[in-house]
Amino acid sequence: MAKLAHAQWSSKMGFVLAAAGSAVGLGNIWRFSYLTGESGGAAFVLVYLACVALVGLPILVAEWMIGRRGQKNPINTMADLAKRHGRSRGWAMVGVSGVLASFLILSFYSVIGGWSLNYTVGAVIGSFSGQDAAASEAAFGALLGNPGSLLIWHTLFMVLVVGIVARGVTKGLEAAARILMPALVVLLLVLVGYGATSGAFGQAFAFMFTPDWSALDGGVMLAAMGQAFFTLSLGMGIMMAYGSYLGEDVNLLGTARTVIILDTAIALLAGLAIFPIVFATNLDASSGPGLIFVTLPIAFGNMVGGTLLGLGFFLLLTFAALTSAISLLEPVVETLEERTALGRLGATVVSALAVWLVGVAALLSFNVWADVLLFGLNIFDFLDTFTGKILLPLTGLGAIVFYSLCLNKEESRRELGMDVYDYSLWNLLTKYVAPIGVVVVFVAGFI
Ligand code: PFF
Repeated sequence: MAKLAHAQWSSKMGFVLAAAGSAVGLGNIWRFSYLTGESGGAAFVLVYLACVALVGLPILVAEWMIGRRGQKNPINTMADLAKRHGRSRGWAMVGVSGVLASFLILSFYSVIGGWSLNYTVGAVIGSFSGQDAAASEAAFGALLGNPGSLLIWHTLFMVLVVGIVARGVTKGLEAAARILMPALVVLLLVLVGYGATSGAFGQAFAFMFTPDWSALDGGVMLAAMGQAFFTLSLGMGIMMAYGSYLGEDVNLLGTARTVIILDTAIALLAGLAIFPIVFATNLDASSGPGLIFVTLPIAFGNMVGGTLLGLGFFLLLTFAALTSAISLLEPVVETLEERTALGRLGATVVSALAVWLVGVAALLSFNVWADVLLFGLNIFDFLDTFTGKILLPLTGLGAIVFYSLCLNKEESRRELGMDVYDYSLWNLLTKYVAPIGVVVVFVAGFI
């Protein structure tokens, strides 16, 4: 096959599916719900929605445009474009921090992907059957307390990721997503239905959408903005890398809108599935990263056909996690492949081994290394917080500022198919609203 790095997507639909495949993942279901629970609910959700619309959309489009112009890995793309526009090569740092973020995120993402695999098997062997809240909490606690088991599932997840990535970019990514993503939506709707009939749905709905603004502080706002970046795969060079495979004929704004609506809908559905169970069973909404793994088995264990639905759900969640994980590994591999003599396979294996190793440190922080703290956080929380609250916003900011400085010109207006009026609004969004928004939230998060 011709050099994979600059192959193009097989079709426009293929690109939409791949971008959605990257965006929709554990972030929508696992991370969104646990952060919403931890951050007090609606105020967090509303800031998150505002960030998706006002910051996420422009940065998504900007990353694609940068990638499409640059046609290389995120670091070289930034360096080349900066040079072409007479700017400092220091802009390559935006690419570097994006690649670093992908690397670090994948390391803990794979641990959670492993939990999802473990729960898929749990569903098969019927371990959710008749489970109540206490049993579910105990089962999850037992998994966390067992480093050997966590290691096996994390390793298995990484092996699956490598197996797929090593075979190249277009294969496998697109085809499966076409069927499996709608299936995930259907299963989430079933779970929302369960919550509406058997859970504390009203309470959950109010928790998610009736804000108690007193719960809002700089930390919550920063968490919400970080989540917007995380869930849309922004600030990591990923969408930039995807843009580099993109043909000239794709409508960026329309595609961005589709991806964002789908991604956001899945997160909100996940919340509406999970919180009715949380409140009906008196679980602690702020219990952290285990939230979905404690709540959903209770639903599956007590609903008609729960074993099969549970199996379907965790299988689909694992699949969504895999498509996202593949996209997380891609920029790291692409960078190594284009900058070293390792070749595609070598670059994939080396990157994955390094990611796996950091992941091992992350999983140990749930048990034997629980007391190892970095800046007061265990290793897992540190990786999640440092990437979500610092690296992603800063990289995303770099991308949007670079776009505004270098690419936001007549050519880009035509590329977006906008008239002059619409473009002036777009200009306002990309030049002022998004970057200033990121800076304000970022600063507020640290004071
Ligand atoms: N957006 C994915 C999710 O929400 O699960 C996770 C992810 C994939 C984050 C790719 C970042 C990324 F670059």
